[in-house]
Amino acid sequence: MKKKLIQHTTEHFEKIFQKTPETIFLSPGRINIIGEHVDYNDGFVMPAAINKYICFAISKNNNSECTLVAKDLNEAYQFDLNDLLKPIDKMWVNYILGVLHQLKGKGLTKGFNIVFSSTIPMGAGLSSSAALECGIGYAMNKLFNLGLTKEEIALIGQKSEHTFVGVNCGIMDQFASVFGKKNSVIKLDCNTLEYQYYKADFKKYSLLLLDSNVKHTHLTSGYNVRRQEVEQGLAIIKQHFPQVNTFRDCTEDMVLRLKATLGEVIFRRCHFVVKEIQRVLDAADSLANSDFKRLGQLMLKTHQGLSKDYEVSCDEIDFLVDAVQHEKSVLGSRMMGGGFGGCSINLIEKGSEKELIEKISAQYRNAFGIELKAYKVKISKGTSLYKTENDTIQP
Ligand code: GLA
Repeated sequence: MKKKLIQHTTEHFEKIFQKTPETIFLSPGRINIIGEHVDYNDGFVMPAAINKYICFAISKNNNSECTLVAKDLNEAYQFDLNDLLKPIDKMWVNYILGVLHQLKGKGLTKGFNIVFSSTIPMGAGLSSSAALECGIGYAMNKLFNLGLTKEEIALIGQKSEHTFVGVNCGIMDQFASVFGKKNSVIKLDCNTLEYQYYKADFKKYSLLLLDSNVKHTHLTSGYNVRRQEVEQGLAIIKQHFPQVNTFRDCTEDMVLRLKATLGEVIFRRCHFVVKEIQRVLDAADSLANSDFKRLGQLMLKTHQGLSKDYEVSCDEIDFLVDAVQHEKSVLGSRMMGGGFGGCSINLIEKGSEKELIEKISAQYRNAFGIELKAYKVKISKGTSLYKTENDTIQP
């Protein structure tokens, strides 16, 4: 699938620009084992890059002109790098312009032509947007020797989403896309950006994504509202407990004691955050000890919290998580990513995937009239240079 993606992206570039692209880059989507909606709350997360990618075919220009071609959408956008870059009414363009806008101040002075195509399903909670931002940042850094670190590339991607797209996302998706490592899960401390790789060895279990096929249209609004709510909550907690700087210093007991002051909704949001941060630590421990039963239970707890307390799930995803709970082959299941649609992530006994997919697909079709999609994903390396013009395959 990767080979095919690279081939058709290259061919499209050749068709449009009448020459071979100078370079090919791959930027992956991500999964998250546990630690949802805590990246912007100074918590821990456990994401990993997956074998679904955006492929970029790129050549430099000798002037300041740029052409972006989104092959899958059959759309293109042209602009001059010397012009003021500001958001336009095409979302896919904005992810890119937001990155370029920042790179102009960091040494990006020449134009380029890009064709990109993707195997990351859009709106499925697999962070195709972070893959796009980070792929562009990474490619520009390499092509124009901008001297950026991987951490800076991830942060530039995140800022693009804040300023040009309007989602006040955390750092998890961009970090996972850039720092992903084959067969490794990243445990990221979103407060310090320190990280550690854990061997993604699930022994007789595997990770299966069930895609609700519900696109998260409320994601932007719902997401930003959640951020405001937890900020409000944290401000109240700080007033009462001056030793608290971030949610990391906050105990469950503090939140419980402030229940009435916080108010019903803000209390539930903050309670979820504090508990979810702890769950990631427990999950990392479980993974290190191959205690998959415990890991599965933690995933289910996360889902209950996301659904009832943080309220970012939806009927379709709740249905998918409920449906597999009675299956002996499934140890854990939960909604993954920003929410309001997208995928559930399931820890399932190897070999039982096919049977489960068939069973749940039928139930899901009956309940919602929607076709379920399923993805068995492999944990792969992060954004990388795949190939240069002289055909040297990069490690
Ligand atoms: C989206 C955001 C991330 C993170 C998740 C929820 O994917 O981009 O920063 O907050 O939602 O965990």
